Amino acid sequence: MERDFKIYEDIFEKYVNKFLEKAKGDEARTLNFMNKKIHSYNVRDNILQIAKEEKLDVDMFIVEFIGLFHDIGRFYQYDRYETFNDAESDNHGKLSIKVLEDEGIIQMIDYDLRKYIIDPILMHNMKDLPKLDDKKMYLYSALLRDADKLDGFRSISVYERANKNLAYFKNKSDDPIISDEVYNNIMNHKSVYKYNLKTILESQVVSLGYITSDINFNTTLRLIKENNYTTKMFEKMQDTPRSRQIYNFVNDYIERRLASEEK
Ligand SMILES: [Fe+2]
Repeated sequence: MERDFKIYEDIFEKYVNKFLEKAKGDEARTLNFMNKKIHSYNVRDNILQIAKEEKLDVDMFIVEFIGLFHDIGRFYQYDRYETFNDAESDNHGKLSIKVLEDEGIIQMIDYDLRKYIIDPILMHNMKDLPKLDDKKMYLYSALLRDADKLDGFRSISVYERANKNLAYFKNKSDDPIISDEVYNNIMNHKSVYKYNLKTILESQVVSLGYITSDINFNTTLRLIKENNYTTKMFEKMQDTPRSRQIYNFVNDYIERRLASEEK
């Protein structure tokens, strides 16, 4: 098996650039494809950094591969359905695996390593990570979820609500409302299914809430803190009693978890 990652990066570039080429002149399509391309590279960088700093016993080739390719199905998804909403289109984890197979990419990987690519990608967009007995499988899957979320926090802290071209906010109202259900789940450290939210504010606080429900490694929490993501995300939201409570709740959680680590 070829382990020179440049070869896989070239395949990724070529595949993605076909969609960008086709989208030329269409502002919304170009923006959404570009966002996913940037996201893929950022998740690749994040996952390598987290794995390294946590000093995990993992295969860094697999780590890099799942980081870069986890969302490869997003391009077909948006091209075909004009949405990133899985509930209104297709499960994008499954689409990513389909692309890896159809493009002959997964076939380039040694057979016994393939499951450590396929399963973490299939699990990266599940509401919760299932309990896994295979320690390696857990590490790859947990790493991918953290790296993905970490870049999600970056994007929420730069996305402007007013940008109607962003698929992330499409078809959501700009009312400053957070439902009881969403609010209570977040305040109880429960992850929230993100594909049937009603308002932009809900999608923003749900992302913020992932910090208390779905971050596996303290390195990820430290990077969230260092980048000041909670405040940057909060600055992009409507300031309501509930959004402010969630913001404070998340900050307290980060402080508590990092303090307990220092002891
Ligand atoms: Fe994804």
